[in-house]
Amino acid sequence: MENRLSHGATFSCEHDRRDTMIDFGSTEGRVRANVSGRPIRPVPDRPRGSVVDIFCGAGGLTHGFRLEGYAVAAGIDVDEACRYAFEHNNEAPFLRKDVSYLSAQELLDLFYQGEPKILVGCAPCQPFSTYNQKKADPKWRLIRRFGELVCDTKPDIISMENVPRLMEFREGRVFGDFTARLKAAGYHVDHQIVFLPNYGLPQRRSRLVLLASRHGSIRLEKPTFEPNSYRTVEEAIGNLPVLRAGAIDPRDPLHRASRMSELNRRRIRASKPGGSWKDWSEDLVAKCHRAKSGRSYEAVYGRMKADEPSPTITTQFFGFGNGRFGHPHQHRALSLREGAILQSFPRDYAFVAPGDAIEFKKLGRMIGNAVPVLLSRAIARTISGHVKEYGL
Ligand SMILES: C[S@@+](CC[C@H](N)C(=O)[O-])C[C@H]1O[C@@H](n2cnc3c(N)ncnc32)[C@H](O)[C@@H]1O
Repeated sequence: MENRLSHGATFSCEHDRRDTMIDFGSTEGRVRANVSGRPIRPVPDRPRGSVVDIFCGAGGLTHGFRLEGYAVAAGIDVDEACRYAFEHNNEAPFLRKDVSYLSAQELLDLFYQGEPKILVGCAPCQPFSTYNQKKADPKWRLIRRFGELVCDTKPDIISMENVPRLMEFREGRVFGDFTARLKAAGYHVDHQIVFLPNYGLPQRRSRLVLLASRHGSIRLEKPTFEPNSYRTVEEAIGNLPVLRAGAIDPRDPLHRASRMSELNRRRIRASKPGGSWKDWSEDLVAKCHRAKSGRSYEAVYGRMKADEPSPTITTQFFGFGNGRFGHPHQHRALSLREGAILQSFPRDYAFVAPGDAIEFKKLGRMIGNAVPVLLSRAIARTISGHVKEYGL
């Protein structure tokens, strides 16, 4: 059967199965997880459902499901660097695979039998940021691939998280086509832009959250926080050991702050919480900031306020020059652990194996790209409520 997409083109659910002949190759992740001797923790009232997380990264989305009692069937990601964090914290197998080449059958084989199938995922966000819009970045095709996989495997419930800008990308066609495809396949689809301090995140972050079910309408649970009860930076990270720029906490190798040049040390000392480089004396201001209005640079080289949620944690949050990522009162940028906590990862979430190198860039990417665990818990609770409501 052919269906019409928002921009007039048609598609068929029996789309070109270009990749079904490709060998899945690595079931290595599954085997490793099984032989690792880490049994799935028995959860007496385990919610019904078998969860597969595509584009799983270090496991922010999966971990929310885990904390809500789900045993996650698998996570799939192309980046091998995410394997340790995903498997170690979630007791679930990580499959290294490009989702473009993941076939419907391979995906179906991952779900546990006899349980409602729950497919979740957060495709890479970078192609939807403003500066990438003009480039022909094929990554947006991963959203289309997500839709094709849904069509071909018919999970009971789907959740897709992304940046709000996805709704505007290519005049809304990428997201419009995705939702049209789901509706044509019989799904009840709901999506909304969620402001995460309303869900208890100590960080200003807005996310597009889509939920869809074959069984009936589904909508993310209501938020429980209001501006006067928002969690703050101080509440989240105020009790971590004091750290100097370039130092590492001996008890937690992730609580490490990047080095700073002498000039940046002087700059951060001159920075006020919530302010910008405009608070500095003339000699500290970079030439490019002085040019014209400098308005576009106002959000760099800032300190965050202690008594408010933090700014959005990006993949670059560990650098003072990359945003308002200066610690509220210590003269340094956020440590990797602080960024992870502001993303609501548990304090002891392990991102690299003991003894392995800790690289700011790599870890910044895993942490900044993650779905905040508090949001994924809300998604997981919503889905388990829906499963109960419909007796799945
Ligand atoms: C936004 S992050 C996902 C974050 C993750 N859901 C979490 O909560 O931690 C997107 C992920 O997609 C992965 N990725 C990018 N292209 C991919 C592809 N073609 N196939 C599989 N994974 C891909 C990246 O490695 C990255 O980990």
